[in-house]
Amino acid sequence: MKTISLEGQIAVVTGASRGIGRAIVEEFVQAGADVVIADLADIPQDLLDVVKQHGRRALPIKVDVSKVEDCNQLIDTTIAEFGKIDILVNNAGITRDALLMRMEEDAWDAVLAVNLKSVYACSRAAIKHMMKARSGVIINISSVAGIMGNAGQCNYAASKAGVIGFSKSLAREVAGRNVRVNCVAPGFIRSKMTDVLDEKVKQAVVAQIPLGRFGEVTDIAQAVLYLASPMAQYVTGAVLVVDGGMSM
Ligand SMILES: NC(=O)c1ccc[n+]([C@@H]2O[C@H](COP(=O)([O-])OP(=O)(O)OC[C@H]3O[C@@H](n4cnc5c(N)ncnc54)[C@H](O)[C@@H]3O)[C@@H](O)[C@H]2O)c1
Repeated sequence: MKTISLEGQIAVVTGASRGIGRAIVEEFVQAGADVVIADLADIPQDLLDVVKQHGRRALPIKVDVSKVEDCNQLIDTTIAEFGKIDILVNNAGITRDALLMRMEEDAWDAVLAVNLKSVYACSRAAIKHMMKARSGVIINISSVAGIMGNAGQCNYAASKAGVIGFSKSLAREVAGRNVRVNCVAPGFIRSKMTDVLDEKVKQAVVAQIPLGRFGEVTDIAQAVLYLASPMAQYVTGAVLVVDGGMSM
């Protein structure tokens, strides 16, 4: 069987203390990468233990990705500690749902800053190293909400649609230097982010999903692993939708 190897690669994953980000870290270390685990929250010891068990190195870094200075520092520290950055996964994200009539300015600003400005800031800091190395991969976690829209999520959907436009533009800018930029657009995935939905809403959502269930964090992490790996070496500017068929 052909296995995916990231042997010798250095990966930075934001929002990686739990949920989809944590699952991405676990896939990456199993494939042989060393990881920078960046999050606003503390990085749990059991995640660091998982990395160790695979014989890989983890560098936990506390960052607020909505702050450009923090993003610059994240990439600078990665370069100082590991000497390079091969893979950047912009995964950190938040929701502040409300119908537009009731959506206050701070809910708009917070979601756009964490979900979209962070992608600009981390990518800008990372690409100068990737372009110099003539190699690198950026994977941005969007959402089907950015493709289909979702009532109550004008801010979130705008940020996630923005991530797609950003990724395609950057993919065009850096392709000549062998740097690839892609998006993964998850549908409804079981995580803390979707735990808050009430049971009736969850049932209504499942009824819209041809595969008949919420996705698991590993469903997204495996898609990210593929895009990060040499198996996707001819893939750039793509949006890989992983949603159980919901948006087709
Ligand atoms: N769960 C889903 O159904 C779903 C669907 C589509 C897209 N997504 C996207 O996937 C990504 C991960 O979502 P999840 O479901 O794992 O959510 P989650 O809430 O479980 O995890 C998000 C992580 O981001 C971190 N984070 C939040 N703000 C941050 C900041 N300012 N700086 C640094 N870290 C910060 C949190 O501490 C947390 O660890 C998000 O971008 C989300 O929008 C999730």
